[in-house]
Amino acid sequence: MIKSLRGMNDILSEDYERYTYFINTATKIAQNYGFHFIETPLLEETALFKRSVGESSDIVGKEMYQFTDKGENDVCLRPEGTAGVVRAFIQKKLDKAGGTHRFFYHGAMFRYERPQKGRLRQFHQFGVESFGQDNVYEDATMIMMVADILKELGIGYRLQLNSLGDNNCMPDYKTKLINFVTEYKDEICEDCVRRLETNPIRVLDCKNSKCQELYTNAPKLLQNLCSTCSDDFDTLKKVLDDNDISYEIDTNLVRGLDYYSKTAFEFVSDNIGSQSAIAGGGRYDRLVEFLDGKATPAVGFAMGIERLMELIEMPSTCRDGYYIGAMDEEAISLVVKTAQDKRKTNKTIIDYKARNLMKHLKAADKVNARFCAVIGSNEIKDGTIWVKDLQNKTEEVISLKEF
Ligand code: HAM
Repeated sequence: MIKSLRGMNDILSEDYERYTYFINTATKIAQNYGFHFIETPLLEETALFKRSVGESSDIVGKEMYQFTDKGENDVCLRPEGTAGVVRAFIQKKLDKAGGTHRFFYHGAMFRYERPQKGRLRQFHQFGVESFGQDNVYEDATMIMMVADILKELGIGYRLQLNSLGDNNCMPDYKTKLINFVTEYKDEICEDCVRRLETNPIRVLDCKNSKCQELYTNAPKLLQNLCSTCSDDFDTLKKVLDDNDISYEIDTNLVRGLDYYSKTAFEFVSDNIGSQSAIAGGGRYDRLVEFLDGKATPAVGFAMGIERLMELIEMPSTCRDGYYIGAMDEEAISLVVKTAQDKRKTNKTIIDYKARNLMKHLKAADKVNARFCAVIGSNEIKDGTIWVKDLQNKTEEVISLKEF
């Protein structure tokens, strides 16, 4: 028997209900915030991710589904959504048009990671990207949007917050950090030695406990911000305070992708095991220019749908729509026609086989229909249909026309 690949799951039945409930809820909230749907291809040029997510990241360094296609192009299944949205934004010349452009998207992402609970090779994200706003209120708005979505789904969280500085303060900080870490060059892990060359601030979230111990007294990002970054970070905290969103400051939160500057944030859950990040994002003011667009400030986030599906409190399902069945062979075609009419206004499920009433009632109950309606030879003769309201437990025979 052929099975799905390791780390790649089917989403069906109860999972599918959770999945669509999540998408519908998040979509409605994103639209309330003025975001528009965007869909970008699953496959892009590998160079797009190398230049945006960054060569030093684990994603690009170790986890890409990368191959040469039949036209000899170096391509890659998207490991995340931001890079493709930025590419589309530039390709459509929205960078030159100016103004604010806000997008949301959802779909499959691919990372060749070691699968475990909450960590898949094909997973789904819901993400948003906002272009054209350099105001820190937009960062706060992003965070509040995630908080709104989680609240609506009944999901508790901890919010971790940091600022990574900008072109003004980051270079000096990097030099200080490199000087500090270089002192321990013989003791730190191989990955950190590499990070020193490629993206030094990534040493700060090294998972190696020995490295973490060595970095205890390393210079702290938040103590090395320039006045603009520091003021913006203060404003961000104040907006969150004013809106009753609690947060923890984590000066070592640097995120696993290289494109961030200034605000970085992560939402974590304590109820899903070690893969606890349920959403993450931040500002990426340099990325549009870096991908050859006109410099445009931007900020966004993405949520991991599979991790959230474990936590969603589903509303109790109430009965919905119609189930229509035939009691006799000769009634089947009338049942089909009646169902076609009913579908114009209501969810309607049909059974193509003639069965007795008990069987139809059971089947209607199984699909959670509100009404079970049946047609037999008597009803054909009278032009009627028998309808039972499975919620209120009432039944009646009405004319087909009225139905
Ligand atoms: P990310 O933190 O790499 O950010 O991913 C966002 C979320 O996707 C994570 O918090 C997690 O819930 C989920 N996720 C990541 N990897 C996996 C996996 N292997 N299995 C299951 N879930 C996973 C980004 O992707 C950025 N593009 C977010 C962003 C948008 N920043 C700015 N705009």
